[in-house]
Amino acid sequence: MSEILAARGVELRYGSSPAVRKADIVLRRGEVAAITGPSGSGKSSLLYCLAGVLPLHGGEVRLEGRKLGDLSDGELSALRRDRLGFVFQYG
Ligand SMILES: Nc1ncnc2c1ncn2[C@@H]1O[C@H](COP(=O)(O)OP(=O)(O)OP(=O)(O)O)[C@@H](O)[C@H]1O
Ligand SMILES: [Mg+2]
Repeated sequence: MSEILAARGVELRYGSSPAVRKADIVLRRGEVAAITGPSGSGKSSLLYCLAGVLPLHGGEVRLEGRKLGDLSDGELSALRRDRLGFVFQYG
């Protein structure tokens, strides 16, 4: 099965506060995954990294083989529009 999403060593900080530390995840076509954890553990932050909403401070994310860090703002916007969907939480 081909990898749709492959994230390796993903790191994200807000200022000097780490939110995502060396996260790895691989999803193949047809797989469904749930990211769980306590409030503040970095689930939303990780999703923002996986979707190209926030630039990484370390690691890489590949979506359908394309490394998000190599894409222009316009290419990222098109990818988010065409290939990704978000249901935002309240509260
Ligand atoms: N915009 C921001 N600026 C500064 N710190 C932030 C910001 N967003 C999140 N954080 C911090 O980053 C850490 C991870 O937050 P995040 O929202 O990713 O967690 P979460 O697992 O999605 O939590 P929840 O279950 O409450 O939605 C927390 O310490 C949070 O306070
Ligand atoms: Mg959240």
